[in-house]
Amino acid sequence: MVAYPDDLRELVEHYLGELRFSERAATEGLGEAMRYSLLAGGKRIRPVLCLAAARSAGAEPAVVLPAAAAIELIHTYSLIHDDLPAMDDDELRRGRATSHVVYGEDVAILAGDGLFAEAIRLFSERQSGEPDRVLAALAELVSATGVGGMVGGQYRDVTLGTAGTAASGGEHEEAAGIGVDALRELHGLKTGRLIAASVLVPLILAGADERAMGAYRRFAEELGVLFQIVDDILDVTGSDAELGKPHGSDERHGKLTYVSLFGLERARELAAESHASARTALAAIDAPTADLELITDFIHTRQR
Ligand code: IPE
Ligand code: IPE
Ligand code: MG
Ligand code: MG
Ligand code: MG
Repeated sequence: MVAYPDDLRELVEHYLGELRFSERAATEGLGEAMRYSLLAGGKRIRPVLCLAAARSAGAEPAVVLPAAAAIELIHTYSLIHDDLPAMDDDELRRGRATSHVVYGEDVAILAGDGLFAEAIRLFSERQSGEPDRVLAALAELVSATGVGGMVGGQYRDVTLGTAGTAASGGEHEEAAGIGVDALRELHGLKTGRLIAASVLVPLILAGADERAMGAYRRFAEELGVLFQIVDDILDVTGSDAELGKPHGSDERHGKLTYVSLFGLERARELAAESHASARTALAAIDAPTADLELITDFIHTRQR
């Protein structure tokens, strides 16, 4: 397994651990539910990316912790809702019973809603920087979360439904009636935009120029697609214990994934191609990128 910038992960973990969401007794249970999912030991790829991109842009990583934490809060909200019975109906997440199993669906929905709103509060109240940059960075994050991003991608995911179910061979694309471009678009929205925002938000905060932003954006978008191809593969090849979430969830729901569309072998080739593209895009960035290289390799080879 490829190493990971552990110094950055520790900064993130500590910052998240200090967060409290409820100031009054009446909502303590909600605050507890929010922290239950947030502190369950995710990989922290998005906030670590955010800190690594800040470092690459010449900033002190710790300066962007509020933004990085806000991204992880939004990601955690998306996981709580993704697991609900009306969505993927999964009962294991980050190695624990999912929020709705422990707290009930009503509280789980509110825990997700709360994490989203508290993320925006955290960002707008605590992220330092020039006000116009902070506002532009926040706009990027919210846009990556909304209809043109994660939520829109989740909508495509649940409405495309049973498009691909074959297991191997080359004819899946035709059989499913949907091509690689549509799947790439779906993944780009559902997962890619939030991953890309993790890289772009610190650059906006650092005041990077358009040319630099373009180079980082090409890297970040490819990284998001790579991330979800690997997620689709792990859903088939991983075990519940390794993944900390139920394997086979996609097949159970007839989800359109890289594996359902292309078969496992071709999906692995596509992941390798995507990894190579991400590395090429990274090499074109005119700044130190050692941490970002590590994260890129980790995302390709991860087992959970
Ligand atoms: C899982 O994300 C959900 C997807 C977007 C595919 P991660 O694999 O980053 O989950 P955690 O944060 O480590 O639990
Ligand atoms: C969900 O994709 C991506 C989100 C926006 C949460 P998946 O449904 O594949 O995520 P996992 O596999 O449950 O983590
Ligand atoms: Mg899902
Ligand atoms: Mg899911
Ligand atoms: Mg998945």
